Amino acid sequence: MSGGRYKNVLLIGASGNVGKNILPDLLADPDFKVSILSRTDSSAIFPSNINIIQVNYSDKSALVQALTGQDVVISAVGGEALMKYLEKVLIEAALEAGVKWFIPSEYGFDLDHSSASSIPINIHQLESIKLLRQHESRIAHTFISTGAFLDRGLDSGFLCFDLVNHSATLYDEGKHLVSGTLLKNLGKAIVAILHHPELTLNKRIYIADATFTQQEVLVLLEKYTSTKWTVKHTTTEETLKQGQEEWTRGNFLDAYIAFILGLIYNGEGACDFEDKTHNKALGLERVSLEQIVNEAVQRVEAAAH
Ligand SMILES: NC(=O)c1ccc[n+]([C@@H]2O[C@H](COP(=O)([O-])OP(=O)(O)OC[C@H]3O[C@@H](n4cnc5c(N)ncnc54)[C@H](OP(=O)(O)O)[C@@H]3O)[C@@H](O)[C@H]2O)c1
Repeated sequence: MSGGRYKNVLLIGASGNVGKNILPDLLADPDFKVSILSRTDSSAIFPSNINIIQVNYSDKSALVQALTGQDVVISAVGGEALMKYLEKVLIEAALEAGVKWFIPSEYGFDLDHSSASSIPINIHQLESIKLLRQHESRIAHTFISTGAFLDRGLDSGFLCFDLVNHSATLYDEGKHLVSGTLLKNLGKAIVAILHHPELTLNKRIYIADATFTQQEVLVLLEKYTSTKWTVKHTTTEETLKQGQEEWTRGNFLDAYIAFILGLIYNGEGACDFEDKTHNKALGLERVSLEQIVNEAVQRVEAAAH
């Protein structure tokens, strides 16, 4: 257990898609004193009972001051912050402030896997990994791989299952294994990681609620929607090639989506880590694919009525 050594926890990006799912679990744990770091020009609104520190991230001394006294910094920054490599500034300030433990914003692929590290969209996250490994004797790190967020990815259609129109796109015939986590369970996983520094310091931690194939998801979707789905086919090779072309043209959003889908579904190991998961060691219960799909169908049907 963390034994009080990691009490003061600062979450950055707490208003984001991912950060707002981490925050409630941190706040619910009496072992942590939680603060939030946010940009001075952020429009995010937080509950009034939380310590909010607002800083202009280009003001280095203000940033160092904000991080001083924090034991753990958890970054959940996204979008532009990742593209502009804001984490370099955050990690350097954390080093100067004497922070003990830094968790960078990943929560997806195994970025140590060669198929993920060769994709240009991951470049700055890879730089953060390198920087933190260089300084691991001064500041500990934990890298967190969760695979795809399944609740968010199914509800939004991002995982290429359209639950409203009952159509799917299968990559490589939907035969490769994919690991994934419910976004709503990420906060519990992070709390467990903080409580087990003996297992998690200076390590990559793999979390997965389920590992499955697209074919298995389709069978369950047809069962729970009582409908035969329309299926299109494509390949991950073609999708990754498209990503590269869009990247070269400067169409970064299209490139980003193509790279992510190609990596999720190509079965090369960046998003398939069933044999490495730490759920059991951290006491995290897993969820059956059947339950994940059934609940997604219920949510989407309830939203349609
Ligand atoms: N596995 C998956 O399926 C999956 C899905 C989505 C995301 N992710 C990962 O989760 C992480 C967070 O992504 P997200 O979608 O939650 O991000 P997001 O919502 O786009 O942004 C998170 C927060 O970052 C801060 N931020 C945004 N732009 C900034 C800027 N220019 N400068 C400084 N701060 C800025 C904001 O916090 P403030 O307004 O409070 O400053 C924002 O609320 C990323 O590493 C992403 O790759 C994984």
